[in-house]
Amino acid sequence: MKGKDLLGIAKDFGAPVYVYDAGKIQSQFKRLTHAFRVVPKLKLNYAAKALSNLSILRLLNNLGSGLDTVSIQEVQLGLLAGYRPEDIIYTPNGVSLEEIEEAASLGVQINIDNLSILEQFGSKHPDIPVCIRINPHVMAGGNSKISVGHIDSKFGISIHQIPHLLRIVELTKMKINGIHMHTGSDILDIDVFLYASEILFDTAMHFKDLEFIDFGSGFKVPYKEGDIETNVEELGEKLGGRFREFCDAYGRELTLAFEPGKFLVSEAGYFLARVNVVKQTTSTVFAGVDSGFNHLIRPMLYGANHHIENLSNPGGKERYYSVVGYICETDTFASNRRIREISEGDILCFRNAGAYCFTMASNYNSRFRPAEVLWMDGKAHLIRKRENFEDLIRNQVDVPALAERPRQTADPNEAHSRVK
Ligand SMILES: Cc1ncc(COP(=O)(O)O)c(C=O)c1O
Repeated sequence: MKGKDLLGIAKDFGAPVYVYDAGKIQSQFKRLTHAFRVVPKLKLNYAAKALSNLSILRLLNNLGSGLDTVSIQEVQLGLLAGYRPEDIIYTPNGVSLEEIEEAASLGVQINIDNLSILEQFGSKHPDIPVCIRINPHVMAGGNSKISVGHIDSKFGISIHQIPHLLRIVELTKMKINGIHMHTGSDILDIDVFLYASEILFDTAMHFKDLEFIDFGSGFKVPYKEGDIETNVEELGEKLGGRFREFCDAYGRELTLAFEPGKFLVSEAGYFLARVNVVKQTTSTVFAGVDSGFNHLIRPMLYGANHHIENLSNPGGKERYYSVVGYICETDTFASNRRIREISEGDILCFRNAGAYCFTMASNYNSRFRPAEVLWMDGKAHLIRKRENFEDLIRNQVDVPALAERPRQTADPNEAHSRVK
C-alpha cells in the first residue's frame, strides 16, 4: 500500500486504525502454495488466532485455505465465515473434554495434545478420528515466549510417551488420522525444522490410518530491513521432496498440512496512530501517540520490533524518537528510533501489524479498541467499527443498591472501626 492510501484511510476512518492489504495476503498465500508445488496434496490451514476478523477469514476461505483454530469460538467464527467443518482443524491446549466434544459435534477435525483427554475422548467416541499433537522436543530459533516444541513446553504429547499413546489407541480402538507438531519457533535454520520433521515421520510409522501430517507453523517474516525470513522456497523443495519419499515408504499419498498465521497476514497489516504530543526530555524525545499496548502489545510482551514510519512527513529529516503510548504504565513501542521528523498531529504507521495485534487488543485503561479496514481492489472497506462507550459498558450489570445509594461525606473524625 502507498503512504497516501494509508493517510486517506486515517482521514476517512480516524486513528488509531488497523488496515489490512488483501493483495498482500493473497500473494503470501500463493507464494507458500507455489513453494510446495511438488506436494500433490497440500493444505494450508490459516491460523485464525493471528487475525480473526470475519472478512479476513472469508478472504482466506475464498483463496482455498483451511482454518486452524484453538477455541470453540474460533471454530464458530470459521463456520460463520463459510469454512466447511472438514476444512477446520481444532487444536486446543488445556481445554475441557466438553469443549472438545462440542467441536467434534460441529464436525471439525479434532487435534488432541495430552494423554488424559485422548483416553477419555477415545473411550467415549472411538468412531471419531483424531489427530495427535506430538512434542518433538526441538528448540529452534526465535523468541523463548513463542517456542513451544521444547522439552519444558506444556504443548503436545512427548515423543517419549509414544508407547503409552499406542496403548491408549489399542485399548480404545480409536482411529488416528493425523499427526501434528508445532514448534512455534521461528524457522531460521531449515535443517533444524527438517530434523523435527524426521521425528514426526518416525512417529507416523506407528499409525496405519493417517490421512495427513501437519507440520504446524513457524514461518519467520521480516520485521525490519535486513531481517532474516524463512526461505519457504528452500523449505518447500527440501521438505516437499522428503515428504514424497516418506509417503512412498508409508504406502499412501498423505496430505501435507501447515497452519501459518504470521506468514499470511503479518506484513499485510498497518497500524496507524496519531501523534498527540512531542515531548523533549533530558534523555530522549518522546512521540506520544493516541494508542498504547492496549492496541498493540507485541513490543511490550515479546520485545517485538515493529518498523515505524511517519506518513505525514515522508521527506523529513531523520531524528531519534522514543515512540510511546498513553497507557499508565511503561508503554514503549520503540526506543530511540530514527524516524522522519515528527510534529504533533502526524500519522505514524506501524508495520507488520496484521498478526497478533488486533486479536491481542484489550480495553485496558477503558479505551476503545480501534476500527479495522480492509484495503481490497484499490478501495477501503470498514470491517470493524471503532468501539464506543456503549461497547465498553454493554455487559456490565448495575447493582441497584449501589446505583441508588446516596453518596456519603467522609468524616475524618469518625472513629476507625476495626473488625476483631
Ligand atoms: C498450534 C499453532 N499453529 C499455528 C500457529 C501460527 O503460528 P505463526 O503465526 O507463527 O504462523 C500457532 C501460533 O501460536 C499455534 O499455536
